[in-house]
Amino acid sequence: MQMKWVKESLEGMKTDVLVIGIYEGTSALIDDVQRLDTKLSGQIAEVIAEGIFKGKEGQTETIFSRGQITSKRVVLLGLGKKEKLNGEVIRKSTALALKAAEKTKAVTMAMPVVLQKGLDAREVGRSLSEGLIMANYRFLSYKKKEDDGQEPTVQNVFLYGQDEHVGEQIDKGLEEGAYLAQGVMTARNLVNEPPNVMDPEAMAQKAEEIARKAGMTFEVLGREEMKDLKMGCFLGVAAGSVKPPKLVVMKYEGNPDAQDDLIGLVGKGLTFDSGGISLKPGGGMDEMKSDMAGAAAVLGAMEAIGQMKPVANVLAVVGLCENMPSGTAYRPGDILTSMNGKTVEILNTDAEGRLVLADCLSYAQQKGASRLVNVATLTGACVIALGNHASGLVSNDEQWQQSVVDAGKKAGEACWPLPAFDEYAEQLKSDVADLQNIGGKEAGAITAGLFLRAFVDDRPWVHMDIAGTSYTKKPKAYQSKGGTGVAVRTLAYLVSDWNHERV
Ligand code: BES
Ligand code: MN
Ligand code: ZN
Repeated sequence: MQMKWVKESLEGMKTDVLVIGIYEGTSALIDDVQRLDTKLSGQIAEVIAEGIFKGKEGQTETIFSRGQITSKRVVLLGLGKKEKLNGEVIRKSTALALKAAEKTKAVTMAMPVVLQKGLDAREVGRSLSEGLIMANYRFLSYKKKEDDGQEPTVQNVFLYGQDEHVGEQIDKGLEEGAYLAQGVMTARNLVNEPPNVMDPEAMAQKAEEIARKAGMTFEVLGREEMKDLKMGCFLGVAAGSVKPPKLVVMKYEGNPDAQDDLIGLVGKGLTFDSGGISLKPGGGMDEMKSDMAGAAAVLGAMEAIGQMKPVANVLAVVGLCENMPSGTAYRPGDILTSMNGKTVEILNTDAEGRLVLADCLSYAQQKGASRLVNVATLTGACVIALGNHASGLVSNDEQWQQSVVDAGKKAGEACWPLPAFDEYAEQLKSDVADLQNIGGKEAGAITAGLFLRAFVDDRPWVHMDIAGTSYTKKPKAYQSKGGTGVAVRTLAYLVSDWNHERV
């Protein structure tokens, strides 16, 4: 899909679909819409007067122009209340306009650039391209081509506006939005690929491609290297699978003058989580192919970061393996020794993500990460607590956590801090080891986070539980069924804003 800003009035546009943005509660049409509507024999005024189109956020109404104007069809797009317009409203409504255009099999489409006080042009540009590209995503690799009605039809999108001096900012925003959305699509593809294909090896290969493309350093550790590093927890989880584990490390250096300021992004990459010996029930187990969504988000974010080149240093560490039951699998009752020397009593082999992450966090710190964010599909308890809308956060540093919340807001990805009182950590005390790997059924999302905290030395850290947000059964404005790519943009915004560089 090509996107281009054009200085043009809506009457001057000549496309298959001409989108017109209208705020909720609009009674009088603005001048150029009014002129257009006159040519359309008043059809726009009619659907508004009859209460069919109310301008509610994301509402669309298609009008046929029957040769009365230069564009084939008009799609009225509800922008909601004027004072509520923000990046996320633009992203969502743009996505819905694209869907309405696709229904008419449009190939070309014109979208208005709606500017508003408090919204800068660059952000508007970014939201427009994020919305369009994310909504355009399909995962059709395993479907026959003839299953039509699924391939996207829109090829060219013209973003039109008359305000010439914002053109450059809009273009810049469109470009950044495209990088961010590309990272999201990468993450979605990684999640949507089946687990027989997207195994630790394949994912490590994909990571290498991303790193090479952006000139980042890349390293992959296998079983032997992990043994040398004494990563007993990670290796314990991987022991049941015939597929060897991989630990991927890549580094982006965008601020060489501040080498010791290094943001560590750590991702859980269980390419399949059967539960291991503590086997999960069969229903819905297929969804556990998405248990690498944290790793996918980190890789997608690195891809975007590699293109946007923010002033920051970033170390990505992703732990890739499978959790399988077998004769070589780890068992309940085992005691594993982590890289940092702490021992962990295993009471449930299905609480595996925290074990993999514990060693990944240690490794990221050994490699110099001065502050950390880990992303993981860690607990079903988080889904119970927050549902599918918000990701749960656990942190040891309020400010750093707030930075993640702010980045999430900017991305339209809600993040909600969970209370991390020390008292909860009591639930993780083991009779025989330093920690046990489960904290009982109460406050499961919090105790999982506090388990990870035990592997973070004195430095800011945030854990982001994306179990409820990384995979969806219901398509939404710019999300299709399956992997959502959540956290890619939050992480990319977090890194870009870290040194107050504008993005
Ligand atoms: N990968 C799961 C968590 C999960 C659940 C992700 C639902 C996405 C959707 C994780 O490894 C897991 O199995 N957690 C257990 C922990 C329990 C044994 C303490 C859980 O949440 O049930
Ligand atoms: Mn599990
Ligand atoms: Zn898991």
